[in-house]
Amino acid sequence: MTQTRASNRKVLVLAGDGIGPEIMRQTLRVIEFFDQHRIVSFEITEGLVGGAALDESGVPLTDQTMAEALASDAVLFGAVGGPKWDDTLPFELRPERGILRLRKEMDLFANLRPAVVFDALADASSLKRELVGGLDLMIVRELTGGIYFGEPRGVETLPDGSRRGINTEVYTEAEIERVVRAAFDLARKRSRRLCEVDKANVMESGGLWRDVAQKVHDSDYRDVELSFMYADNCAMQLVRNPKQFDVVVTSNLFGDLLSDCAAMLTGSLGMLPSASLGAPDATGRRKALYEPVHGSAPDIAGKDRANPLACILSFAMMLRYSFDMPEEADLVEDAVRRALASGVRTSDIVQPNTGRVSTQVMGDTVLRELEKAA
Ligand code: IPM
Ligand code: MG
Repeated sequence: MTQTRASNRKVLVLAGDGIGPEIMRQTLRVIEFFDQHRIVSFEITEGLVGGAALDESGVPLTDQTMAEALASDAVLFGAVGGPKWDDTLPFELRPERGILRLRKEMDLFANLRPAVVFDALADASSLKRELVGGLDLMIVRELTGGIYFGEPRGVETLPDGSRRGINTEVYTEAEIERVVRAAFDLARKRSRRLCEVDKANVMESGGLWRDVAQKVHDSDYRDVELSFMYADNCAMQLVRNPKQFDVVVTSNLFGDLLSDCAAMLTGSLGMLPSASLGAPDATGRRKALYEPVHGSAPDIAGKDRANPLACILSFAMMLRYSFDMPEEADLVEDAVRRALASGVRTSDIVQPNTGRVSTQVMGDTVLRELEKAA
């Protein structure tokens, strides 16, 4: 456990597994920067999640850590999972259950996954620069419902001895409505265009999504342009012409798939932050968890090669969405932008004309840019 100066902003840091701890180390340096410059201070508590928690206590998230998460103003999360734990464990004990429990019990139903192409990285994308240059889209993924949590679920044995696997896509109108509203609110602050994505052509629940989105639009968001798209077409459109999108709202599973696709447009999964938000309470405060979209990358873990920028940008989202500090968030994002412009690249975004640097040096560079701006 480490403690920084006392503050009314309580942040629980859960670095997790694989590259989680090394990218979090760089992010904590950015947080300390704000503290040292007396810009804003946080009360930081560190805890275990995923395989790290499993090794220590036999479960991927202890009740104690869960309670700390519920009591904090924001959770900053690294990544979970790795080959050390995967196959040998029952489903309920897998490292991934740690993050799924946090999302569910904190009721973080709105997952914001921006895909922004930094100009310096437009050539690192697998798509041509003209297709991705200036791209700035936001996927709003429903995060606490759908097939990830639906019942019935499981694997059952049939009378003939063969097995049948079951998962269920289930959404209530209320679950759809709250995430759709969050997406409309975001669209209003951006280009006022929202695309609802589903498989209404084959799934009844998808038809319900359309219906609810249309109703919410007609009653409260007529100033936002609403369109609909099938999820398969959306996957195709994301790689064909991604700049047609502003805000996309979709279910848990489709959001999982489409956000990986959108992430790759930016040149690297290592660049993409996310925010997972609950409903605002009477005081306007909402539970929140911030995490890079990339996973634990066990193949490069501990090698000082991981890209810390998605985690650092997740902290910027925390400043923006949990602490209403848009200027400080801009400061972090600008420092990342200038670090990239100066030519430093971790191995995931390395280009022929740039040098390859370590996780630590990428952190140094962001810190240096922050110092210059302060
Ligand atoms: C994500 C991840 C998670 C998910 C895993 C780790 C459970 O892929 O955040 O996108 O499927 O939601
Ligand atoms: Mg995913």
